[in-house]
This record gives sequence, C-alpha cells and structure tokens, in this order.
Amino acid sequence: KDNVNIGLIGFGTIGSGVVETFNQNFDLINDKVKKDVKLKRVVDLDITTDRGVKVDPEVLSTDVNDILEDPEIDIVIELMGGYQPALKFILKALNNGKHVVTANKALLAKHWEEIIAAARENNVRICFEASVGGGIPLLQPLNESLAANNVKEIYGIINGTANYILTKMTEEGREFEDVLKEAQEKGYAEADPTFDIEGHDTAQKLIILTILGFGIYVKQERFHVEGITKVTPDDILFAKEELGCCIKLLAISKLVDGELEVRVHPTIVPEDHLLSSVNGVFNGAYLVGDIVGPVMMYGQGAGMMPTASAVVGDCIDIIQNMTKPVAYGPEKSKVKTVKAMEDVR
Ligand code: HSE
Repeated sequence: KDNVNIGLIGFGTIGSGVVETFNQNFDLINDKVKKDVKLKRVVDLDITTDRGVKVDPEVLSTDVNDILEDPEIDIVIELMGGYQPALKFILKALNNGKHVVTANKALLAKHWEEIIAAARENNVRICFEASVGGGIPLLQPLNESLAANNVKEIYGIINGTANYILTKMTEEGREFEDVLKEAQEKGYAEADPTFDIEGHDTAQKLIILTILGFGIYVKQERFHVEGITKVTPDDILFAKEELGCCIKLLAISKLVDGELEVRVHPTIVPEDHLLSSVNGVFNGAYLVGDIVGPVMMYGQGAGMMPTASAVVGDCIDIIQNMTKPVAYGPEKSKVKTVKAMEDVR
C-alpha cells in the first residue's frame, strides 16, 4: 500500500504540535517513508477554538468513530490523556487492526498488560516515545541501538516541572510554593500539579522506562515515591555548600545484587555528575549498559513541539516497520525480583 492515513484524537497543545509538524515537514516525512502520508482526520470535542495552526476544516470531526471505524485509517494517535475514555479508544483502535501512537504515560503505567496484550493479539504496534522525556529519544534506543546491552542502571530527571522548580529554588534561593506558581503559569505542570510535585508523573514514566530497560513491569504501589514538596532552600544550600552537590528529583531503576531497585525521590547529586547540569524544564537520563557503559540523553522533556516531534517520529517508525513484531523490553528478563519497598527507602 502506497498511502498511509493517520487519525489524531485530541487537538490540544500536543495535538496542535502534531498538526504543525505535518504542516511544516510534510515533504520531508513523505520523502523519508516513500509513501503518501496523510493526516486524514483530527477529532476533538472542541473543533471551533482557533489553535493557531493551519488545518483543513474537512479534516475536523467531533466523532471519534470517524477514526476508529474508518477502515482507511492505519495509525491512530491518542493525545487526549487521562484513563477513560482514552483506554477504550486505544483498545478499540488496536482491536480494529490499527497501529497506535500515544503520549499517555498514566494510562500505559496503569494498564500496561491489557494494552500490550491487545497489540500482540492484533499483530499491530503501539509506540509511546513521547510518554517519557517528551522529545528526547529515550525508549526506542533501549529496544534498538542499545539492544545489545543488559541495562544495569537508569537514572532519570524526567519531570520538567519538578526540575524547573528545583532549579529556580537553587539559582534564586526561592521557596517551593512561589516557584510552583510560576511553573503553572508557564504551562509546564500537569492539569493536576500534584502529579508533578509529588513524583507521580515521574513514577509513571519510570514504570515505562523500567519495562523497556529491564523487561519487568513494576506497578507504582510496589515502589517508594516521594516528591519535592518538602525540599527547602536550606536543604539545597546545605547540599551545595557542605557537600558540593545539588538536589534533583530522580527516577531510579538499577540492579543491585541481581535484584531491581525502583524508586523516585529527591536525591543529592554531585555537581560534577552530568545529571546535575540538567536544569530548568529540561530532562535527562543517564543509563549504564554492560556493553556500552554510560550513556547520557538530554533534551526538552515537555512542551508542544518537542513532544510532537516524538509522536510524529513514532508514526514514521511505524510506517517504516509496520510488520515489526511487537517487542517491549526483554521478554525473558533475567531480572526476577524487585527489592521490597522497605529495603530501598
Ligand atoms: N508535566 C510534565 C512535566 C509534562 O513537567 O515534565 C511532560 O510529561
């Protein structure tokens, strides 16, 4: 088949970024995949608000079945977020034989088994690079260019809002609450900012990273998650002046004596470690593989265009590898056990 049709559910910030990416780089994308790629349908409950991007009115619809039931649509992009009806729509898309691209970390972290089972049963792919680290290619390398490795350790700064707050507290000696307000005004925070500052968003992303890195699905109830609400300017000053360190909200997944330790908490990071230079809304991940050694990834972990870059990148990957078997991390993982929560606090 020489043409590929894409349907987008969710015309919010990231959805608009996806439309803009196709507008800007349409020729490039078509040239790369050597097919005629079309964004055939964009569905949202609100199709009247001006999103500031050019879109053919004929493409817009409020009826999700215009995508899910359209046999011509090959790839469904889900960017509505939340658990329901997003889960229902993704399952329906997969069961109707469509490939899916999503940025929905909360949904994947909670309903991983069900979603992946549906993809496998229908022999279609689901890609979610945008769900962790926005525009940074964090997930695909674990399955591809780093696939020769047993991953030993992953450390991530994967919540831009929390990192922005800690950075401002460090640079300007300001209080937590004061900077939080600023982060919300700038639009970095999740709809419910407690997800960012209490570490839940980081934990959801860590669940996905852990699956890809270690082939093991660890639900959030099973590991220690602590956010940044208790960090004070004094803690930061102490870390800096007495220890030569900074404080970062880290997502950690690492093997210790064959057991996996998974945790999220504010961590003292030496100032000469690469992760200490990941500042502001930027994200970074430092991982160690048994063959490659350490690898550092860095970039914009949130925002309209960086996240859209990952979403459209997934679409291109699917178009180029439609028949690739569904593989998400090592299936016969050597890692069998997860350290108990009490042991890693
Ligand atoms: N609220 C998230 C963050 C957005 O601040 O990183 C991207 O997932």
